[in-house]
Amino acid sequence: MKVTIIGAGNVGATAANVIASQKIASQVVLLDIKEGVAEGKALDIMQTATTLGFNTVVTGVTNDYAQTAESDVVVITSGIPRKPGMTREELIGINASIVKGVSENVLKYSPNAVIVMVSNPMDTMTYLALKATGLPKNRIIGMGGALDSSRFKTYLSLALNKPANDIHGMVIGGHGDTTMIPLARLASYNGVPVTNFLAKEKLEKVVADTMVGGATLTKLLGTSAWYAPGASIGYLVDSILNDQKKIIPCSVLLEGEYDQKDICLGVPCIIGKNGWEEIVDVNLNDEEKALFAKSATLVRDVNNTL
Ligand code: NAI
Ligand code: 2OP
Repeated sequence: MKVTIIGAGNVGATAANVIASQKIASQVVLLDIKEGVAEGKALDIMQTATTLGFNTVVTGVTNDYAQTAESDVVVITSGIPRKPGMTREELIGINASIVKGVSENVLKYSPNAVIVMVSNPMDTMTYLALKATGLPKNRIIGMGGALDSSRFKTYLSLALNKPANDIHGMVIGGHGDTTMIPLARLASYNGVPVTNFLAKEKLEKVVADTMVGGATLTKLLGTSAWYAPGASIGYLVDSILNDQKKIIPCSVLLEGEYDQKDICLGVPCIIGKNGWEEIVDVNLNDEEKALFAKSATLVRDVNNTL
């Protein structure tokens, strides 16, 4: 199984490292426009193979799309990251032209690949890639909900003082500070609703911390995060390549589901070898439905600037 990652920066290289070290694919190609960067990072990752015990072959190339041929999955992380004080939406102009060109190049060599979009503003870039390439909708997946959900579960485990792996929960809606919707009502500590353990104010703080999860890290780091984004990419790619049928919130084209049309937005999806295979309806209550509609309006405003 072959995975190409476009953009060998913080997120792309971390994703390559996760995919190789977790033995998710047999081959990973990293591609960047900066001369030597992808080659250097690939070689560095390869030099961990004997100590970590994996056989994945990782190679790096400078803008040579021929080397990406016949990839099963292509992850797009190329673009500029958010700087402190910059909204994801402000990135749109620069990243849109990068994403459009990259998607077209990728499909020349891997016409059957599933595309995972990571570049921000991610929901809009997913929509742009879908429109620009005309690919079947199931083969374009925006990654953001997996990351936001992992942040939600981390904050829940800290508030509960319970092991992170026993916490379940999802974040749907847009991948943005004002557009994401942590589904607190449905979150559980191994099946028991977290609302049984946490007071309303504590749960509200978890939700608020989750929503600014990315911005908090951007402020601390001076650029956006990479470990959790890279791990979330690995988790999603694993479910595609190994046909795991995990339910992962992903940004996908809605055609009436969740009462929305002609927009890519985060909803729970079953992820397998065909990309996103089914959208799962979690029966939102009226309050959650209103938040989802508001999220769609905000993301649509950004899409309109395209
Ligand atoms: P970075 O600056 O470390 O890496 C981006 C890389 O893309 C650079 O190495 C750059 O040379 C490369 N690049 C730029 N134009 C290119 C092109 N035309 N072809 C190939 N490579 C090109 O940035 P970082 O931190 O890796 O973030 C990448 C993107 O991912 C940003 O847009 C960021 O906002 C987004 N992001 C999205 C997340 C999500 O959950 N959806 C999470 C974290 C970051
Ligand atoms: C994040 O959420 C900025 O999308 C990036 O960390």
